[in-house]
Amino acid sequence: RFHDPDRFDPDRHDNQHLGFGSGIHLCFGGPLARREAQIALTELVHRLDAPTLVADPPPYRRSPVLRGPIHLQVQQN
Ligand code: HEM
Repeated sequence: RFHDPDRFDPDRHDNQHLGFGSGIHLCFGGPLARREAQIALTELVHRLDAPTLVADPPPYRRSPVLRGPIHLQVQQN
């Protein structure tokens, strides 16, 4: 989908959602992908030096159904 897909580029445009779908075609690899994301984010946090939230608390979705931050910006001091 993207040019140079192996390069980490958080500024790519036209990103589709990262949900796993629903119903009969629910992503088969969802549990693996979730575990990979947990491992990657944990490793990232360990490599940062004293990371803090840019906004604390971060901005939350207004939806009562789907809770969670809209984004979670982190900075290194
Ligand atoms: C962040 C990573 C991933 C995302 C965002 C993702 C997303 C999705 C989505 C949205 C669908 C549903 C498509 C539809 O409704 O037609 C899907 C289906 C599927 N995914 Fe993933 N996926 C991810 C990782 C993986 C991995 C790691 C595997 C395999 C190891 C995998 C295997 C599959 C398979 C086999 C289906 C088809 C399921 C079916 O039609 O019954 N996915 N994925």
